[in-house]
Amino acid sequence: MITSVKEILEKAKKGGYAVGAFNTVNLETTRAIVEAAQELRSPVIIQITEKTMEYAGGRGIFHLVKNDAEFYAPEIPIGIHLDHGKSFEIIQRSVAIGFTSVMYDGSRKVFADNLEITKKVVDFCHKKGVVVQGELGNVPYLGEMELKDVNWEKYMTNPQQAETFVKTTGIDALAVAIGNAHGFFKERATPDFDRLDMISKSCAIPLILHGASDWENGRVAEVIRRGISCFNIDTAIRLAFANNLINSVNNQEGSGFDLRKLLGEAREAVKETVKFKIKLFGSDGKA
Ligand code: G3H
Ligand code: 13P
Ligand code: ZN
Repeated sequence: MITSVKEILEKAKKGGYAVGAFNTVNLETTRAIVEAAQELRSPVIIQITEKTMEYAGGRGIFHLVKNDAEFYAPEIPIGIHLDHGKSFEIIQRSVAIGFTSVMYDGSRKVFADNLEITKKVVDFCHKKGVVVQGELGNVPYLGEMELKDVNWEKYMTNPQQAETFVKTTGIDALAVAIGNAHGFFKERATPDFDRLDMISKSCAIPLILHGASDWENGRVAEVIRRGISCFNIDTAIRLAFANNLINSVNNQEGSGFDLRKLLGEAREAVKETVKFKIKLFGSDGKA
């Protein structure tokens, strides 16, 4: 059942649990996320990046997600979201396709520019009933810089700026940087929990943690307690899919390489990973 992302996030915030925002790239990862949500009766967000729109076709992948959510999980709240939209044009294109939730990622811009463009995106989107996630501070990517070069202070969300950013732009959710990083990347030894407390106090909207694939039980519970309502998961899905596929291909001697069997098994591996994350976040049974 397609449901507003805002409603899914606010319910999680009120309920003291978090939801997963899972990145899909194709038919297999989409069905895996939908079936995991259905089996655990968990709300989920399924998200699509610009690169995936280029790979799969924006309209095609959007309608694949919508169809699978409606057909295979008719009673489970599922939100569809544009992840890391980096320009006003991609936001316009996504809204034209039918997305009702988008992220505008201006995190690589200076504060004033991020604020100005995010506000422009919110003004455009809210008129059309579309909700917006912004990002302040910035969540580094694996491969973006040398590990030894990371000066975490430079990446962190500033709590005072966050208050101004949320009030001025009118965003509906905020991605925060507290020492988290995309990919299996060596993150800051300990997340800056005090900073998260300050951001939570000054911003009443749901807070999102990107780069969450390698976050374990203790940390997850700690940041939920301190105000995180959603974790973004991509790398864990990629690894589950790829590792399973490599093993299956290596064990397929003389079988005729039935792609439906190979990809079907990879889909099951992704489903197990998504189910593991749903339980970790505590959203099972919350549909
Ligand atoms: O942060 C989001 C993704 O991990 C990046 O994915 O390669 O589809 O842009 P992408
Ligand atoms: P991971 O790379 O840790 O899975 O993070 C995904 C993400 O933040 C997508 O927006
Ligand atoms: Zn991200």
